[in-house]
Amino acid sequence: MDMLQEFHMNKGQGEDSYAKNCNVQNNILSVTKSFVEEAIQGYFDNDFPETMAIADLGCSSGPTALAAVSEIMDMVNARCLRMDRNSASPKFMVFLNDLPGNDFNGVFASLSSFQKKLKEEKGNDFGPCFIAGLPGTFYGRLLPTNTLHFVHSSCSLHWLSQVPPGLDGKDNPMMQNKGKMYASVTSPSEVVDAYKLQFRKDFLLFLKSRAEEMISGGRMVLTLMGRRLNDPISYYPWEFLSQCLMNLVSEGIIEEEKVNSFNVPFYAPYVEELKQLVEEESSFFGYRFGSFEVEWDGHEHVKHNNNELFHSCEVLTQGERIAKMHRAVIGSMLEHFFGGEIMDELFHRYSRVWDDHLTHKPDSKCLSLVVSLIRN
Ligand SMILES: C[S@@+](CC[C@H](N)C(=O)[O-])C[C@H]1O[C@@H](n2cnc3c(N)ncnc32)[C@H](O)[C@@H]1O
Repeated sequence: MDMLQEFHMNKGQGEDSYAKNCNVQNNILSVTKSFVEEAIQGYFDNDFPETMAIADLGCSSGPTALAAVSEIMDMVNARCLRMDRNSASPKFMVFLNDLPGNDFNGVFASLSSFQKKLKEEKGNDFGPCFIAGLPGTFYGRLLPTNTLHFVHSSCSLHWLSQVPPGLDGKDNPMMQNKGKMYASVTSPSEVVDAYKLQFRKDFLLFLKSRAEEMISGGRMVLTLMGRRLNDPISYYPWEFLSQCLMNLVSEGIIEEEKVNSFNVPFYAPYVEELKQLVEEESSFFGYRFGSFEVEWDGHEHVKHNNNELFHSCEVLTQGERIAKMHRAVIGSMLEHFFGGEIMDELFHRYSRVWDDHLTHKPDSKCLSLVVSLIRN
């Protein structure tokens, strides 16, 4: 799969869409709100731009696509009111970035109601807000030099630009990641190193590209999946999916070779790795680094925010909710590789593995890292 051309979350508004299965990501946005707020406050302590240029990188589609932007505008509005600037806010130029395969049409279709709500809630003196879609990879330049005041990215930077080269084992049999789709405790050390190296290259390129696009003093808040210092490299979701794929192999439903050659372009770093790469690249001051846990199924978000949805979700087990969410995220990639016929069975088994895991480890949580940076 050409990751940069074809990877996308499940499109549309249907039951299996990302839009209907992004509770974890929504939760993560709520938790990181204080980081965004602090960064906005800090920015406005030093500057008040006539037009504020904001980019949300890896925006996807559905309710989270405009959620961060909307929050940022609320915070700027509150800040302007506190500064008593005769309620004159800056104008906003918003860039919504994702890979070209993203459901941008879905995002564009929601823009008029977004603009209407903005006017109703904040009045005619607020903004205006100009919004543009920006298809392309964030591992490289997206905008002209010195354009952006604020960059936000949530739940996207753990996706690598590609599967680390060599994992098919064609050049070096030691590199073949047998029976696994991500670096695991049983993977050869060469596989683990290849993942680390790919993340390092990608993250440094990401920082370099943003450094060029951002103005001095600009702020950036990034959230991504991570792991704790004493965690092994394995990541439960990919470990469990590999296990289910290997079950299908043992029943002759798919070929072992196919599973051996499938790997995800994903990496969950330690917070220390992020710190070290920020220092090494040196264009940004690391203002704050943090980590937090959320439930794997994001159910706490539904419980707090949407009563009706909460009752409809209650009929599903936790494992089923997690399976729906991961299918919305990685389903397109798996389908591309293994074909659509096995998807229902694969995710059914996957939900059962999660239910079993959570019965034995009810405290199991998903770790996220959050980083707040200032452009030097
Ligand atoms: C799990 S979604 C998160 C979306 C949204 N930010 C949220 O919080 O719900 C990850 C998004 O990152 C996008 N993405 C992954 N790699 C990317 C890249 N190299 N450049 C731009 N977007 C990317 C994916 O297409 C996907 O839409």
